[in-house]
Amino acid sequence: MTLSELRAQLRLPVIAAPMFLISGPDLVIAACKAGIIGSFPTANARTEQVLEEWLTRIEAELAEARSQGLHPAPYAVNLIVQGAGSPRFLADLALIERFKPAVVITSVGQPGPVVERVHAYGGLVFHDVATLRHATKAAEQGVDGLILLTAGAGGHTGSANPFAFVPQVRRQFDGAILLAGCIGDGRGILAAQTLGADFAYMGTRFAATRESMADPAYHELLVSQQMADVVITDRLSGMTATYLRGSIARVGLDPDNLPPTAGFLKPTIPEHIKAWRDVWSGGHGVGTIDDIPPVAELVDRLAAEYRAAGGKPQ
Ligand SMILES: Cc1cc2nc3c(=O)[nH]c(=O)nc-3n(C[C@H](O)[C@H](O)[C@H](O)COP(=O)(O)O)c2cc1C
Repeated sequence: MTLSELRAQLRLPVIAAPMFLISGPDLVIAACKAGIIGSFPTANARTEQVLEEWLTRIEAELAEARSQGLHPAPYAVNLIVQGAGSPRFLADLALIERFKPAVVITSVGQPGPVVERVHAYGGLVFHDVATLRHATKAAEQGVDGLILLTAGAGGHTGSANPFAFVPQVRRQFDGAILLAGCIGDGRGILAAQTLGADFAYMGTRFAATRESMADPAYHELLVSQQMADVVITDRLSGMTATYLRGSIARVGLDPDNLPPTAGFLKPTIPEHIKAWRDVWSGGHGVGTIDDIPPVAELVDRLAAEYRAAGGKPQ
């Protein structure tokens, strides 16, 4: 598939970004049926058998939608490449080769070996980067798209300003640019395109939907917390990420006085508390979230806002 073929299958240039413990088949299927790319990290499926079940279900439900005359968008699978070589990584990659998702999103590590295998079946690879140096390295390895993680993004956030990052990547890369960080409405999607990006990559906003796997208390925090409640720290997982203050307090930790790490990737919080599972992520865009709508309703809203701002949904 080419990038323009991919874009032509979408109602809006949007990916509902993969989120650890949050995105599963319900969110993916709802997003694709609404006309945007749905995605999930393979790690959300506890075992490779569960991953196979999820992929089978996604394929079947999208095929059924097509048989009813609908035009669902393609889906994407997110593979963490840091563990390349582990039995689980190899099993996940083999399933990807069997199910052939249109897009594979690689994060943390070198995308090169995955690029080769995904291109062999005609898929596209988009890779997460937070610096210009990483963008250059990933481009050299033949990725089809670069996901630019910018300041305040949900999850492992970036620190670059999008006004600086997008045009500088554009000068050296003619593949797809996906802008990630705090995009929460249709105006933001159009703004990303105006800056030079091809797609908006939206996480936190889609965590706050009915189909996400977020705990009800997490959903409540996504609605009630504001930008000032986003804590950016490496003290919870070892890697710098954005967390909701209320979720840190909820497990009995002091958001303003977290214990320092004992070195790279070594948090010293009590062992029974796990980042992502017990302490929840959300980016600066959380301040614009007021509700937990079904995905279809959210995408309708995004399309209406995009059109009102001057964009042309398909
Ligand atoms: C709860 C949560 C979990 C995430 N988990 C992953 C993940 O497993 N893999 C990944 O590549 N990105 C992950 N991300 C990052 C998103 O894919 C995306 O880059 C980010 O959410 C975009 O910023 P936004 O949340 O401000 O829209 C996660 C984000 C959140 C909020």
